[in-house]
Amino acid sequence: MNGKKVLVTGARGMLGSALMNYFGNKDTIGFGSEFDITDLNMVSKKLEIFKPDIIIHTAAYTDVEVCEVNRDKAYKINTIGTQNLVNYCIGKDVLFIYISSTGIYGRGKNTPYTEFDKANPSTIHHKSKYEGELVVQNHLSKYLILRTGWLYGGEKTHNKNFVYKRFLEASNNDALYSDNTQIGNPTYVVDFVKQIQILIEKNQYGIFNCVNGAVNISRYDYVKKIVELFDVRCNVNIAPDGMFARVAPVSHNESAINYKLNMLGLNVMGSWEESLAKYIIDLKSEI
Ligand SMILES: NC(=O)c1ccc[n+]([C@@H]2O[C@H](COP(=O)([O-])OP(=O)(O)OC[C@H]3O[C@@H](n4cnc5c(N)ncnc54)[C@H](OP(=O)(O)O)[C@@H]3O)[C@@H](O)[C@H]2O)c1
Repeated sequence: MNGKKVLVTGARGMLGSALMNYFGNKDTIGFGSEFDITDLNMVSKKLEIFKPDIIIHTAAYTDVEVCEVNRDKAYKINTIGTQNLVNYCIGKDVLFIYISSTGIYGRGKNTPYTEFDKANPSTIHHKSKYEGELVVQNHLSKYLILRTGWLYGGEKTHNKNFVYKRFLEASNNDALYSDNTQIGNPTYVVDFVKQIQILIEKNQYGIFNCVNGAVNISRYDYVKKIVELFDVRCNVNIAPDGMFARVAPVSHNESAINYKLNMLGLNVMGSWEESLAKYIIDLKSEI
């Protein structure tokens, strides 16, 4: 990154490890949860030592269901953890990149959200992530807030590998069930990382949706496409009402478009189907 020192939080996570693979060099440092972002002293000390030019903050408490019943932990990691990192950046020439979610738009409409729609988060997870956004916006001027969709990618062994998990399920069952009521954007971490690089290179600041293109794509469409691309003999059925009942009141619509990236001519994130096909070709070569 042109000699700039980059620090990645959550570097062992799904997105964090893709960032480390892409940016990883002597000027990039990645921390897992041993760098506890809720520990203000540790955060300040480590940042003072490394003196990053860019912080890419991916670390988060990401389990939407668990956040709903563990609200203190959700706000402590997602909001206060972000605040601890932001505090270091105040008054310094540091680009702060905060990874957020299209889920923060909540339940306002049935069509894809743009950056000009108001945030109206409906779950504790998304509320705590949105509060993190506000901390960034209220205290810094040199920032990117990037709202992304249903992320996938990474190693087979990653415990959050949704795509590989569905492959295993489909391989071991005659039928799978999936929810056709919730829509969103399956988004490949590799595409997202490339988009982040472009935003940095083009000196962009502010809020951007960063998702692979997908209109009206449900979890059911997503799972059906995964099974089809792996070429596994397994029926994918629409789940009956209540089969995937959730504790968290997640919006039925988490879909978005990269409205600002499109207007700026900077959108490099292709269609969800093409990216999923690329990823599954890679995974198949390892199976
Ligand atoms: N996954 C999605 O579908 C999705 C959708 C929209 C937005 N996002 C956002 O994208 C970002 C990356 O998500 P992801 O899917 O890559 O998440 P992930 O795989 O769950 O990674 C999150 C990482 O955060 C680290 N972490 C948790 N608590 C921490 C703490 N107190 N201090 C420091 N690190 C801590 C964990 O580190 P250890 O592994 O070392 O424990 C974990 O690896 C998150 O900000 C998330 O909100 C994700």
